[in-house]
Amino acid sequence: MSATFRSHWGLDPEVTFLNHGSFGACPTEVLRHQADLRARMESEPVRFLHREIEPLLDAARHALGAFLDADGDDLGFVTNATTGVNTVLRSLRFEPGDELLTTDHEYNASRNALDFAASRWGARVVVATLPWPVASKQELVDAVLARVTPRTRLLLIDHVSSQTALIMPVPELVRALRERGVETLVDGAHAPGMLPLSLRSLGAGYYTGNCHKWLCAPKGAAFLHVRRDLQPGIKPLAISHGLNATRTDRSQFRLDFDWTGTHDPSAFLCVPEAVRVMGGMLPGGWPAVMASNHAKALAARAMLCERLGVAPHCPDELVGSMATVALPPGTEALNPLGLDPLHVQLFERYRIEVPVVPWPRAPQRHIRVSAQLYNTMADYQRLAEALEALLR
Ligand SMILES: Cc1ncc(COP(=O)(O)O)c(C=O)c1O
Repeated sequence: MSATFRSHWGLDPEVTFLNHGSFGACPTEVLRHQADLRARMESEPVRFLHREIEPLLDAARHALGAFLDADGDDLGFVTNATTGVNTVLRSLRFEPGDELLTTDHEYNASRNALDFAASRWGARVVVATLPWPVASKQELVDAVLARVTPRTRLLLIDHVSSQTALIMPVPELVRALRERGVETLVDGAHAPGMLPLSLRSLGAGYYTGNCHKWLCAPKGAAFLHVRRDLQPGIKPLAISHGLNATRTDRSQFRLDFDWTGTHDPSAFLCVPEAVRVMGGMLPGGWPAVMASNHAKALAARAMLCERLGVAPHCPDELVGSMATVALPPGTEALNPLGLDPLHVQLFERYRIEVPVVPWPRAPQRHIRVSAQLYNTMADYQRLAEALEALLR
């Protein structure tokens, strides 16, 4: 790992950490800010949570809005993308026979939320099968649009898929579906901090994203953006004081989302600090951070493909800061946690933290590497050597 950047994180020096994608990793400077906020909260909880919280949350939402090119008033903080997806799917009403469209690359938890919503209303989940490997962005667009019918009511799509690390053609799909009168719920769990975003120009009905992954905020920081015309139809999972508030100085959406019961809001409040700290790590700011991580993911992928003698799964333009590389099929059963024995061996024998993903289904599998500022090519070389030894 890069000694220059590594010193900003408290990552275990014994571990080669190639899985920023699963849960992120928060720089120590941001965690210190969170500790200060928590100390301030606990020194006078009522002052903090009752009288001071509103302007603090407003400032954090507006800083996040500036980062996402969105109006901060159209954002609600939630604790993770799972909650963002559920908030939308459990607010919407469907008719029997309505079709809820998604892809076979959708994240399992979000797919479960879609199945749950569909079964509640008698709607039907329609799954577009995407090509794998994939030759072009257009192939992905075509595969999804081929499954749109007059009964399609919603598209749920990852902005960056979890298991295949593909950047999905979200702007193209949002536009094409809006032309057909269909809204899109974008599961952007990985996108903020990995891809440049403009939620304003994207125009998606619903967009949820994590701040605790690639934006490097503390865990428990995420957002839900709802286009203004759709906000009356969306309620947080926890109804609280906002529902019957008589205030007229802020929207019902704001009143509903800004207080959902007592919890520790320090992760939300650290988002501006995470934007500042990460954006300050390279002279070119955030565009340079994203470009550097992208270049490293591509270089790691090229090296691993060469060492393993395999072709890349997709064109470079569909890669962000994570990449997958094909592995020979597994020969042993997954363990009770669903982990491939190779995944376990990489950690136990080599102290390399990297997911081995059974995809499209076991025994087929690939490895997914993440690239964050603290990673260096030497990390991926270690992985290549370990794989060569374990797969021999
Ligand atoms: C595409 C996608 N959606 C949703 C999630 C869930 O994120 P969280 O656990 O923060 O809700 C993940 C996590 O990796 C993901 O990759």
